[in-house]
Amino acid sequence: MLEVQQLHQYYGGSHILRGLSFQARVGEVTCLLGRNGVGKTTLLKCLMGLIPAREGEVRWEGRPITHAKPHQRVQAGIAYVPQGREIFPRLSVEENLLMGLSRFPAREARTVPSFIYELFPVLQEMKHRRGGDLSGGQQQQLAIGRALASRPRLLILDEPTEGIQPSVIKEIGVVIRKLAARGDMAILLVEQFYDFAAELADHYLVMSRGEIVQQGRGADMEAEGVRGLVAI
Ligand SMILES: Nc1ncnc2c1ncn2[C@@H]1O[C@H](COP(=O)(O)OP(=O)(O)O)[C@@H](O)[C@H]1O
Ligand SMILES: [Mg+2]
Repeated sequence: MLEVQQLHQYYGGSHILRGLSFQARVGEVTCLLGRNGVGKTTLLKCLMGLIPAREGEVRWEGRPITHAKPHQRVQAGIAYVPQGREIFPRLSVEENLLMGLSRFPAREARTVPSFIYELFPVLQEMKHRRGGDLSGGQQQQLAIGRALASRPRLLILDEPTEGIQPSVIKEIGVVIRKLAARGDMAILLVEQFYDFAAELADHYLVMSRGEIVQQGRGADMEAEGVRGLVAI
């Protein structure tokens, strides 16, 4: 389980995360929703150790990781798909995927595990193409595939549907559902696309101005008025 307690973070003088607390359980998709600028990406960067947390605690599988370095979090089984994808455009699809294996000994890090290509057949078809030559949707699949290559037990996704064509959004949804069904992974999905989040969420969180202001079961999102809270 991921446990976040009373997390605070600042950019200069602006107080961005304001005592934020929540949990994300293994075997569940936890969807974090919230309007632009409320601090969702900032939270994920804190969870990944890319920016420091000023105050509060983050625990993963019972151990505090609040001050761990990003690579230590990767070793602890946490993977992150950043907003905007950030693949390596000049490297091939295969080389991009191999980057995701960096936490393993060199021997194991030479071949892309077959389950990645099974989840995303398009990546196998395109494995010798440069990442930058892929469509936006294919790049998103590549970024998710790279994250999965590290065999995470916590997968963090920042707006994976942003700017992506509907057919690929559907495919990404199917993959997230398959991963959740395995039951051995916690998935923290930040989304502004309400229908996509509502379809996948076991648990939902609504963030506003650096705090979680509402949460509940995914099945209750509509009844609890979440659509109106996060409408852009
Ligand atoms: N590197 C930065 N330096 C200063 N302010 C930032 C930085 N990144 C984001 N912000 C500000 O922090 C707030 C939260 O941003 P962000 O976490 O990206 O929100 P969200 O992902 O919910 O849209 C916004 O007001 C944004 O302008
Ligand atoms: Mg964001």
